[in-house]
Amino acid sequence: MKDPNCRPALSAKLAETGYDTVFVGFPIWWGREPSAVDTFLTENDFTGAKIIPFCTSGESPIGSTCKRIAELTGAETETGLRMGGDISEEELKVWTAGLGL
Ligand SMILES: Cc1cc2nc3c(=O)[nH]c(=O)nc-3n(C[C@H](O)[C@H](O)[C@H](O)COP(=O)(O)O)c2cc1C
Repeated sequence: MKDPNCRPALSAKLAETGYDTVFVGFPIWWGREPSAVDTFLTENDFTGAKIIPFCTSGESPIGSTCKRIAELTGAETETGLRMGGDISEEELKVWTAGLGL
């Protein structure tokens, strides 16, 4: 995590490409997405997709991570949702409804 260019190997790539919308979920580690998520984002082709990030964290916001994901993928990236441990199902429904999918 100290090296932003670290890309831990993953055992598989996505079997398909051409998704319209991709939800990418992760915990925040040291202020950003885990490096294995960077591997996923850079080894797969998200051309034409909209990426919607969502994360859990102790307190860190998601904002700069969304910008980083957009830079890594070149894909349109929403400002996603950061969740603490106490988010309700109702709050999640409001968020998903607001995405307009
Ligand atoms: C190595 C590590 C680094 C973390 N760094 C942060 C951080 O920078 N900011 C933050 O708010 N939470 C941080 N956390 C807390 C995690 O975001 C939190 O434990 C996680 O979102 C909860 O999901 P989990 O139950 O899958 O661990 C860190 C946790 C770990 C294990």
